[in-house]
Amino acid sequence: MTTRRALLTAGASPWFIPRAWAADTPRFALGVASGQPRADGMVLWTRLTGTDLPTRVDVQWELAHDEGFARIAARGVELAEAAWAHSVHAEPGGLEPGRWYWYRFQAQGQRSRIGRTRTAPAADATASLRLALASCQRWDHGHYAAWRHLARQDLDLVAFVGDYIYEYPSSPTALRRHSGGLLLDLDGYRERYAQYKSDPALQDAHAACPWLLTWDDHEVANDYAGTASSTPLGLDLARLRTAAYQAWWEHQPLAKAQRPQAGVMRLYDRLDWGRLARVHLLDDRQYRDVQACPPLLRSSGSRTLFARDCAALNDPARTLLGREQEQWLAQGWSLDRPWNLLAQQTLMARFSSDPAGRYWTDGWDGYPAARARLLGAAAERRVPGLVVLGGDVHAHHVADLKVDFDDARGTVIGSEFCSTSISSHGRKQAALDQALPLNPHMHLARSDVRGAIVLDVQAQQLQARLLAVDDPTDAGSPVRELARFVVDPKQPGPQRA
Ligand SMILES: [Fe+2]
Repeated sequence: MTTRRALLTAGASPWFIPRAWAADTPRFALGVASGQPRADGMVLWTRLTGTDLPTRVDVQWELAHDEGFARIAARGVELAEAAWAHSVHAEPGGLEPGRWYWYRFQAQGQRSRIGRTRTAPAADATASLRLALASCQRWDHGHYAAWRHLARQDLDLVAFVGDYIYEYPSSPTALRRHSGGLLLDLDGYRERYAQYKSDPALQDAHAACPWLLTWDDHEVANDYAGTASSTPLGLDLARLRTAAYQAWWEHQPLAKAQRPQAGVMRLYDRLDWGRLARVHLLDDRQYRDVQACPPLLRSSGSRTLFARDCAALNDPARTLLGREQEQWLAQGWSLDRPWNLLAQQTLMARFSSDPAGRYWTDGWDGYPAARARLLGAAAERRVPGLVVLGGDVHAHHVADLKVDFDDARGTVIGSEFCSTSISSHGRKQAALDQALPLNPHMHLARSDVRGAIVLDVQAQQLQARLLAVDDPTDAGSPVRELARFVVDPKQPGPQRA
């Protein structure tokens, strides 16, 4: 006869006491996060973990003025549903502007870690802003020493501009391997986010301050454009995108109103930081035209090509942002604040690798007419303190922005800081060194380091510190400052400090 004792000693599943096991399953294994800080609120995020969760779970959250939760500012209950991966998106409102808050969640008899977040300054308040710019955190290419460092930098905000996950399988010799193969369905994307979010340094960075996030291609599939796939595998990109966008929303501090419907999600957004700055966040994937002159036998996808070989490259009808977003941006500049920070996915400044004009077609160089429209409109409106923030190319770039990059004496109308990757491998530095003299508007190009950029923004000056991780294969690696630049809001263009 099988007794309960026999079952337990044999290590078999004690089906008659499931709660005893449930209590052992960590419910908040992916940490907490916050995002989209406004003057009166923000979004708080977590996702319950464990395979034995009910279909619907009530999750309590609380937000306090102090780390000890003695003075509660807001609390509530959110329903976490299996259909949305038991994710929680709480949106406290009516908060005080320009304040730090602490938050935590509770469910299934367990409590999450405590996160720290803040509201934006009031619209009429003088303010300063310390912001980290980061992108491209390929798990199997390196550790997250950059996040470990950034979590301790007293940041107000992180702007993450794409490639939060990568969809690829890992090579058997990878530093740390992706679980699962090439991502092809919702379960796969969910598992990949959960793996990335298991990293303690990334969890610390999310818990330290609110984030603003946009995506690039690898959250769905390499080089995808709109609903066009760049692979010859016959993938149904629309179906893949629906799954990927859902998993993205489930795993990030995004508002409930942004929940994707049928593979469509409004991501582009802007946020005001007192009288100091307006931050614009773009989406250059969802609405773009396919890359010009795609590789042989493909309907989309990127190449590096000579402009003279591709007439479509300069077609003024082609768009990277889509007409609607282009207009939204052109009409939304702040003309009465010293700074307009434009956070978006990729390098905006022209970067030619040949004197005759040779360009990579997935970035802004592949959409030169759209770039000229954006920068031309900003110049026409005399947009104050235009600073473009980017990522994607796995290299630090610092550049002057011009409406016409061929005009060596043309007016500089803005500044660009493009951050290198957190962990994804970069191109050979020699290729960038060779190209740099061909692009005199470019002050720096470094693909040989991993890291991020920290920006200290004040009314009179913006300072950018370019960070470099000593050893990306070491999670505890020191991080040092590679270079420092400043920008005067009345004098566009970065100056080495
Ligand atoms: Fe990347």
